[in-house]
Amino acid sequence: MAIRLNKYIAESGLCSRRNAEKYILEGRVTINNKTVTDLSYKINEENDEVFVDGEKIKPKRHIYILLNKPKGVITSTKDEKNRKTVVDLVKTNEKIYPVGRLDYNTTGVLLLTNDGDFSNLLTHPKHKIRKTYTIQLNKPLMNEDENKLLKGVYINRRKGIFIKINFPNIKKKTLVEVAVVEGRNHFIKDMFSTLGYNVVELDRKYFGQFEADIPLGKYRVISNEEIKSVYKNYN
Ligand code: URA
Repeated sequence: MAIRLNKYIAESGLCSRRNAEKYILEGRVTINNKTVTDLSYKINEENDEVFVDGEKIKPKRHIYILLNKPKGVITSTKDEKNRKTVVDLVKTNEKIYPVGRLDYNTTGVLLLTNDGDFSNLLTHPKHKIRKTYTIQLNKPLMNEDENKLLKGVYINRRKGIFIKINFPNIKKKTLVEVAVVEGRNHFIKDMFSTLGYNVVELDRKYFGQFEADIPLGKYRVISNEEIKSVYKNYN
């Protein structure tokens, strides 16, 4: 992937993007032994060797993980009460953090990365990333409530909406599959609780294009192809 010179320098941890621009304009940056002062220069990560003040830039390695989060794990990088966090489940020396959040007892797809741009892209409301949950309710969902949730109900004076509701087993209306694009915390539980339902089990099957395709508690590395397709879909 081509990447702008100032971003490439900033991602090495040397300085901010703004300072990187300053260094470029001051003629302190060389690429393949030539001074480059063009701010729009795009780095070819495979071939270009970048130096600032004669020091070689080592780009930070980005990592992208898909975890099938189990219950009893907190979506955070650390916890004051010393509970297990999602980051504890992934073996890596890189400092990664979760993309969005799932509640302590929610299971399912959770992405982790150290790439801020990737994380922002997937959590920005304008991209309306679709998430699909399977939900076990404390009582069957009534038709009239199903319609209300599809039209929208108010949580803290802001309207929330389910874009799709399915029943995987039409004879068992306590089991519901719901698609949403909202990212508010506790959104699913709050939507149901406005109509008097309790969520007993909550499992995220999909986060955008990413599916819980590995066993609970396991994780896998997200491929370059998958990352490219995220940028293609949402940029
Ligand atoms: N909505 C919730 O209520 N909880 C989650 O963990 C995710 C979505």
